[in-house]
Parts: sequence; C-alpha cells; structure tokens
Amino acid sequence: MEQSRPANTPYDLVGGMPAVRQIVDRFYDLLEQNPDYAALRALHALDLAPMRGSLSGFLAAWLGGPRDWFSENPGKCMMSAHRNVTMSAETGSQWAKAMACAIADSTIEPELGAKMSGALGDLARSMAGRT
Ligand code: HEM
Repeated sequence: MEQSRPANTPYDLVGGMPAVRQIVDRFYDLLEQNPDYAALRALHALDLAPMRGSLSGFLAAWLGGPRDWFSENPGKCMMSAHRNVTMSAETGSQWAKAMACAIADSTIEPELGAKMSGALGDLARSMAGRT
C-alpha cells in the first residue's frame, strides 16, 4: 500500500504514474527509433523493458511520488546505478535531448515540463561530466 505523502508534489502536478510512464516510454521509443541517439542506445541492454520500469519508478520518486524504487533498490543511487556505464559528453547530451523531446511530446503542462527538462538535463550533463 502506498505510504501517505505530501499532496501537490511535482508528481501529482505532472499527472502521476500515467504521465511518468508516457514520458519514459517515449524516451526509450526515441532511443530505439531515432539514429540521433544511437550512441546512447548502444550502451543499453537489448531488452529495454526493465529500464522502462526502473526509470519510471526512479522518476516517480524523484518527483516526490511513491518511493517504491528506493525501497526495492536499497542503497542504490544515481551514481551507483551507473557505476559500470561509460559516459561521455556525447551520451550525456543525447540523454538530456531525448528526455527533453519525450517531455515536450507528453501531455504535461509546458511550463512544468520545461522545468523538469531543465533539471534532468542538468543532472545528465553533470553525471556525464564526472568522468
Ligand atoms: C548521463 C547520461 C546517462 C547515460 C549515458 C545513462 C545510461 C544508462 C545505462 C547504460 C544504464 C543501464 C541500462 C541497462 O542495463 O540496459 C542506465 C541505468 C539507469 N539509468 Fe541512466 N544514464 C544516464 C543518465 C541518467 C539519468 C539522468 C537518470 C535519472 C534521472 C538515469 C536513470 C537510470 C536508472 C533509474 C537506471 C536503472 C538502474 C537500475 O535499475 O539498476 N540515467 N543508465
């Protein structure tokens, strides 16, 4: 059962899990279909279904929604989740661009979507820049 949590979090404002799932599905569809993201796609496993679930769970918690991803992945954080991923400025920027496109294609209110894209883009670029 979902624990009680504050109302009107960004998670609620974007439209909850259906909206998060819509963005994540579009993000991985873009990776699969658009050659602009070939380098980023190549870093991932052939089957993207587990990532569709995991990124949705992470983003739900990141937006202030249900924290199941953290209870299911005790001790895991964004840095440890990517310990074995070789990132570059190119793949960091592909991640940020694909996520911005996925959000822009979603039903999220545009001003909120722009804030979400900005924050996630900064996160992706700073993670990629650490190498
Ligand atoms: C900086 C550029 C990034 C690259 C190149 C990248 C790449 C990857 C790769 C290759 C995987 C493993 C995929 C697989 O096993 O198929 C992964 C896992 C994951 N990534 Fe990223 N990622 C990036 C940024 C991000 C950001 C910004 C977030 C969150 C906002 C994120 C969330 C996740 C999550 C939740 C997982 C799954 C962890 C797990 O379930 O163990 N990634 N990423």
